[in-house]
Amino acid sequence: MNNCVVGTGYVGLVTGVCLAEKNNVVTCVDVIEEKVDMIKKGKPPIYEKNLQPLLEKNVKNKRLLATTNLGKAMEKTDIIFICVGTPSKEDGAIDLRHVENAVKNIGKNLANLEETDYPVVVVKSTVVPGTTEKIVIPTLEKHSGKKAGKDFGVCMNPEFLREGDAVKDFLNPDRIVIGEHDEKGGDKLDRVYSWSKAPRIRCTPTTAEMIKYASNALLATKISFINEIGNQCKTLGIDVYDVARGVGLDHRISPHFLQAGPGFGGSCFPKDVKALAKQAEELGLQPLLLKAVLEVNRRQPLKAVDLVEKMLGQLEDRTVTILGLTFKPDTDDTRESPAIPIIKKLLERGANVILHDPKAGEKVKKLFYGDKKVEIFEDPQKAVDLGDATILVTAWREYLTLDYSKTRLVDTRHVIDREKCLEYEGICW
Ligand code: UGA
Repeated sequence: MNNCVVGTGYVGLVTGVCLAEKNNVVTCVDVIEEKVDMIKKGKPPIYEKNLQPLLEKNVKNKRLLATTNLGKAMEKTDIIFICVGTPSKEDGAIDLRHVENAVKNIGKNLANLEETDYPVVVVKSTVVPGTTEKIVIPTLEKHSGKKAGKDFGVCMNPEFLREGDAVKDFLNPDRIVIGEHDEKGGDKLDRVYSWSKAPRIRCTPTTAEMIKYASNALLATKISFINEIGNQCKTLGIDVYDVARGVGLDHRISPHFLQAGPGFGGSCFPKDVKALAKQAEELGLQPLLLKAVLEVNRRQPLKAVDLVEKMLGQLEDRTVTILGLTFKPDTDDTRESPAIPIIKKLLERGANVILHDPKAGEKVKKLFYGDKKVEIFEDPQKAVDLGDATILVTAWREYLTLDYSKTRLVDTRHVIDREKCLEYEGICW
């Protein structure tokens, strides 16, 4: 099939590369020329594990193309995937600017398509329930002068990719959700995934949109739940990881997403839970649980600061090293990373801060640019040795083997043996 992917963030690029790997010809479209140039050279504009070799291979064999010209990309396309970002607005509501813009341009180009056989527009971006039916379809129809379900198909097909594991997740999905406006469009989209035996959920676009939000909200709830239990465990001198193992072996619960720590970050959970809660409020409902999930998560990283302050007596003019700035290992993404509120709170309490991250040091440096109390180190051992205490925020593999024998450590990830540290505090154990 000929496919076109609009937006080359980590969802769009991974979708494009993996579909090319599955023998489709895919054209990636982005408005940013530098990104398109990099893709054409086989270089991913983002860091994502295992993506680079697959990208290079498929660019070489001409199954993966890139352009800024949407009209050209759509000339012979069977399916157009919308993978643009949906950030949060100030009040937590979803910002649909990029989606609306992409849909408008796709609509205009649909108007020019004469001989293609029933192109299908697929929304992959995470959008609040109702968006495809109420905004995407009317906008496409308005700008194309054509009718959805008659001249072109529309589907909502959420992604469940984890950053850092996105290629693996795309190629081995647990389920494929096809929210179809029209059956013909749904059938065509289903054929794109013919290589996967994963169960199919065929439903309405609005149901598909809610499946995505409910999945992320439930995973985020599990994390806030175990963090709350973990905070109580800490007070009682219990290791919450022993508790989570005992709880997770119940097959109705599962052991996944029960790792207590500094709270969830990233570009998805915080944004999606906020957007879902906001929509509930707009509908006149009270999202009590979702609000609590967010509040537990807001407070959780600050526990690490309290622990380090207790260790050192006070923070004024003491130096605290932060190991790990990304929201999880194997990515360079610092969006909503728990490291950020931790650093801000340490500075607020008068501490000097040394930062280390294998991938994201420079990004975070920009955030605290000019602050004389913040330093970035390239060598993690030196960073640890020069701090009065260290907070391990991200479990990068290289941190597991450092020498902590002279270190006062707050471990937020349950990855360091307490016996190997001069002093040790776990965040929830
Ligand atoms: C998440 C979902 O896992 C994906 O299924 C979804 O497709 C994606 O959001 C999205 O909506 O695009 P991601 O944000 O990449 O993926 O990362 P996760 O591995 O889920 O981790 C999210 C956060 O939760 C991280 O800060 C992580 O440290 C934290 N976490 C995760 C915990 O604190 N404890 C856990 O047990 C698991």
